[in-house]
Amino acid sequence: MLIAGGSGSIGSAIAQLALTQGWRVAVHGRSLEKLDTLVTGLAHLGQIDGFATDIWEEDAAEALVAEVVEQYGRIDAVIDCTATGPLGITGLFPDTSPETFGDFLNVSVGWIERLAHAAYDFLAQEGGTIIAFVSDAGIYAAPRQALVGAARAGTIGFIRNFAVEAARDGVRAHAIAPSFVEGTESAQRMGAERMSKAAKRAGLGLPTPDDIAPLALFLCSDGAAKITGQVIGVSGGLNA
Ligand SMILES: NC(=O)c1ccc[n+]([C@@H]2O[C@H](COP(=O)([O-])OP(=O)(O)OC[C@H]3O[C@@H](n4cnc5c(N)ncnc54)[C@H](OP(=O)(O)O)[C@@H]3O)[C@@H](O)[C@H]2O)c1
Repeated sequence: MLIAGGSGSIGSAIAQLALTQGWRVAVHGRSLEKLDTLVTGLAHLGQIDGFATDIWEEDAAEALVAEVVEQYGRIDAVIDCTATGPLGITGLFPDTSPETFGDFLNVSVGWIERLAHAAYDFLAQEGGTIIAFVSDAGIYAAPRQALVGAARAGTIGFIRNFAVEAARDGVRAHAIAPSFVEGTESAQRMGAERMSKAAKRAGLGLPTPDDIAPLALFLCSDGAAKITGQVIGVSGGLNA
């Protein structure tokens, strides 16, 4: 299992659960130091290796996939948790930044597309799964989310159309859409007041990364062999 952006809050929870379920896990991120800390902390659970690649480098997706295949000999799942930060992306529309949006759009749609291209033949060998992390804003309309919503709707459009075609090669594709996730760097950036307001509206309570990881693992499992093209929210009842 290749977890792009796997050194982050949600990716590392998926990595931990994947190891306990017997997956061999390649975690990717930008900071080698952060990857080393994660790999050292989880190595007792199974085989896990860190791969540091900046997604903005030319041919980053191809290089990452090639390195993982060289080390593991196969790729059966790709989960993309890469996030580049919200600066200029969220907020009232006049306060958002057209310059920053280009990069965010590229990460949201271009990076998953490049990853899917690079990993496709390997996923097709045994019937693998690719999962994109998006955001509820790609599904539901809300104030302050015009740019996030636009970019994430693009990811969802890619995943759903890709899924129908890729099914013919045995490849499955899904999007997981969190809203507010407790215990993440994003939650810290959001601030206690906004998180607390959201928590009050979420009847089941806001999810943590540990509430999201089991869904990702299920979608990659044989139990989900006939499911593809789904966009699944994990919001504790905030949106439905
Ligand atoms: N957390 C939430 O509340 C929330 C809500 C809705 C949607 N989501 C979505 O869920 C996914 C996972 O979120 P998260 O909270 O786990 O994110 P996160 O903790 O911010 O992790 C982001 C990951 O992306 C990597 N990354 C960022 N820029 C990179 C670059 N240029 N090259 C390579 N790697 C790069 C980071 O590595 P470095 O740290 O080394 O840069 C890290 O591994 C994201 O798509 C996010 O948008 C999250």
